[in-house]
Amino acid sequence: MKVLVIGGGGREHALVKALKKSERVKKIYAAPGNGGISHDAECVSIKADDIPTMTDFVVRNTIDYVVVAPDNPLAIGMVDALGSIGIRCFGPNKAAARIESSKVFAKALMKKYGIPTAAYETFSDADKAADFVKSASFPLVIKADGLALGKGVIIAADRNEATSALDSIMREKVFGESGSSVVIEEFLTGPEVSVLAFTDGKTIVPMVSLMDHKRAFDNNEGPNTGGMGAIAPNPHYTAEIASICEKNIFLPTIRAMRDESCPFKGCLYFGLMLTPQGPKVIEYNCRFGDPETQAVLPLLETDLLDIMEAVTDGRLDSVKARFSAYHAACVVLASGGYPAAYKTGFAISGLDEQGGIAGSAVYHAGTEYRDGAFYTAGGRVLGITATAPDLKSAINAAYKAAAAINFEGMFCRKDIGKY
Ligand code: AMP
Ligand code: GLY
Repeated sequence: MKVLVIGGGGREHALVKALKKSERVKKIYAAPGNGGISHDAECVSIKADDIPTMTDFVVRNTIDYVVVAPDNPLAIGMVDALGSIGIRCFGPNKAAARIESSKVFAKALMKKYGIPTAAYETFSDADKAADFVKSASFPLVIKADGLALGKGVIIAADRNEATSALDSIMREKVFGESGSSVVIEEFLTGPEVSVLAFTDGKTIVPMVSLMDHKRAFDNNEGPNTGGMGAIAPNPHYTAEIASICEKNIFLPTIRAMRDESCPFKGCLYFGLMLTPQGPKVIEYNCRFGDPETQAVLPLLETDLLDIMEAVTDGRLDSVKARFSAYHAACVVLASGGYPAAYKTGFAISGLDEQGGIAGSAVYHAGTEYRDGAFYTAGGRVLGITATAPDLKSAINAAYKAAAAINFEGMFCRKDIGKY
């Protein structure tokens, strides 16, 4: 089969590497891919959200199967467009992708179907939102409705912070039309857990749980990023909590999507908080997480293409997804300045010719390959994953491999996996 993976970050590199292990995959393309991915797939320079050029490429190259990995192409209907010309895809259609692309939709879904989440109000009128926060108690959480590159969530400690967040989202429109509506919700506390799950809309198969590290610096300090590292499994996620989540959150969510006539097919990501009142949903993502994918896929023992096709064809109940009992740790190496402004184009030392390191998995997130060498090309540059029978060994091995790599301005968190 000829498979196309849409996207060009560390998550897509992990997907490409996992799909490459399938005997049935004869050729992999990535659009647009990146310098590291180009050693595992043929990269084509098409933007991930360019639907007309992508469909044209898929038809002309007789691609059999497309994996749509990033949020934006899913939100704008890449799967619908490819489906309308008979191309089988992994990922939700536009209506189902609203579970991530509209927080107002996601919150209303949870309220209607009794899925535990933070209490909230939604506003599309800036004056009414401003009035609401005048009498609210703090802290509270303000979220832009639409996609905002992971930056649309503000935890306001007092009324002044809330008012200025509302002004920048709803009046100055710093996130564009994503800020036309906002959700204002109760501040929850407790450990956070990410669970990614395969679902065909009827059956749901959770993967090994994860701990993400969203803040830029050690001790969870600094600004929010796309994610600076991940470990799997998450030590807070006991078997007892997993069964509560399955019963109160996972199954009700896919049932709710079916009842709303937008069954979800693909990878559904549950961002959970284990509050003193039990697990609650912080957010849904309609896709694989980044860097969670780089930590969880190395533990998958089943052929990824087999699972993905079963999802597409609505027969996930016929496939058994097996995961190793090992632990995984992924450490992200980032460009100085990230998540704010940073420079690119620095030579990366320590990688072998294929862009890897013996003994660990190196996922390229933002690299360019030219004249036989790798250069930085993004905020998150590389993700280094190691697996081991215990968490400590996995973490140590990932840091040991990371220590071999260098580029100007490089930084990483030193406390991935501490909790
Ligand atoms: P999100 O983009 O929705 O995942 O939010 C980013 C981060 O903000 C989450 O990982 C949480 O740490 C935090 N957050 C979001 N909603 C809440 C909430 N209701 N209470 C406390 N923290 C929250
Ligand atoms: N790491 C969180 C995300 O992919 O949104």
